[in-house]
Amino acid sequence: MQIRVVSARPWEVPADLLVVPVAGEPVFADELGEIDRRSGGELRALHALGEVRTAYAAVLGAPGELPVRRILMVWAGKAETLDRETARRVAASAMRRLAGRSVGSVAIWLAPLAKGLGDDEATAAEQAARGVVEGGFEPKAIYRPDTDEAPPALDELILVAAPGSAVAPLVAAAERGQIIGEGANLARRLANRSANDVTPVVLAEEAAAIAETHGLSIDVIDEHRAAEMGMGMFLAVGKGSDNPPRMIVMRSGEEGAQDSLGRRLALIGKGVCFDSGGISIKPAARMEEMKMDKTGACTVIAAIATVSRLAPGLPMLTVAPAVENMPGPHSSRPGDVVKALNGKWVDIINTDAEGRLILGDAMTYAEQLGATHLVDVATLTGAVARALGTMVSGAFASHDPWWDHVAAAAARAGERFWRLPLVPDYAPEMESVYGDLVNSGEAEGSLVRSGMFLDRFHTVPWAHLDIAGTAYYTKRYPFAPRGASGAAHATLVELALAGKS
Ligand code: BES
Ligand code: MN
Ligand code: ZN
Repeated sequence: MQIRVVSARPWEVPADLLVVPVAGEPVFADELGEIDRRSGGELRALHALGEVRTAYAAVLGAPGELPVRRILMVWAGKAETLDRETARRVAASAMRRLAGRSVGSVAIWLAPLAKGLGDDEATAAEQAARGVVEGGFEPKAIYRPDTDEAPPALDELILVAAPGSAVAPLVAAAERGQIIGEGANLARRLANRSANDVTPVVLAEEAAAIAETHGLSIDVIDEHRAAEMGMGMFLAVGKGSDNPPRMIVMRSGEEGAQDSLGRRLALIGKGVCFDSGGISIKPAARMEEMKMDKTGACTVIAAIATVSRLAPGLPMLTVAPAVENMPGPHSSRPGDVVKALNGKWVDIINTDAEGRLILGDAMTYAEQLGATHLVDVATLTGAVARALGTMVSGAFASHDPWWDHVAAAAARAGERFWRLPLVPDYAPEMESVYGDLVNSGEAEGSLVRSGMFLDRFHTVPWAHLDIAGTAYYTKRYPFAPRGASGAAHATLVELALAGKS
């Protein structure tokens, strides 16, 4: 898809389709009034019909004398709440609305989006481009590339900036958005693929192919090396499956190098290719969704690829422990006591609390490789989904200044996280009779204790992002299909890019 930015009046730009975002109650004056007048009153008529009422509703209308085949009015919700996420979703909703249609070029009028973003046209251009790319993602096309249900693959995206705006910075911003959107889609594609297709070995092969394409180094640790190294928690989960585990380590930049903020950043992603629960097996209902339990790993693998496109050679590390959590004669049992890579003895009370086991060893290993700042991302708990739903991810952090960096990255990315507390008073509930700590306990406070478990496996500043609610939509939205959403990819990319010199 080519991106072109034109500074022009919205009624001057020929295209197949013109997207007209509307924030708040539309006032048909000024430019919106002129678009409406030239469309023969189409916008006003659609609005009068009550078509544009729910957030991200996208309605097609006849163009009148406008130089396009159709207009697409997209409601951005209330003007006061228009933010980066809204701007992106307006563009994504436009693309979803066009699923199955033949459209080659789309023009998006940026002014209503830029206005809500404090007249920041560059941010509007970035989020619009990212939204178009992310809105074009269709999970059905993974196994059925011939599907006729996918949004159209555009030849050209035309961003219509205000007359007199400098075009070059807007093109740069839009291309940045396009690259970040493509990275999110890479993560979504991998995450959506089924467990019979993407085993830990296959995920490692995919990571190797991505590393090759992007000039990254990669080290894939198999179960034998992991045993020599002492990754007892990682292996305790991985050994239950015929599909062996893999610890996937990727690096950009020179070993030992710091970024411009003096960091050696490591991103750690949970890669459970299928989470049956193991011996503590899950109920059958919706177990099929647990192929998405590798989304954290897919997200960090995609994030380092995206960073390498935007800042080649920027020092950073990703560690993705990949396993399949299965019941069987080789599985860990409830009550098994295993030794973690950092020397702690862990009592596995519940084999379904497997994410924290593999992440703990991966975090220790990231520190052994020299990481000075850690962020892990994981579909860790059902509790976070119950607490925060599908639109806000949970977070924990050990150091306030590090959390401030993560939160600032999230704000730039236009993604929502809610920081939850680590509560030292609950530590006694995590004590084990046989070892140093248990991996699971009573339901009350389990979300907090999931963070507190991971908190025992780092010595440098650390943050944990729980995307169990946000990573995978179990229903479709106007701006996204069912399945992997790409959540947290952009935040991690922004966090890494903060260290660009
Ligand atoms: N992968 C699940 C969490 C999950 C649940 C992700 C729903 C996405 C949607 C995780 O491994 C898990 O099973 N967590 C348990 C923890 C419990 C055993 C302490 C849970 O949330 O019930
Ligand atoms: Mn589990
Ligand atoms: Zn899991």
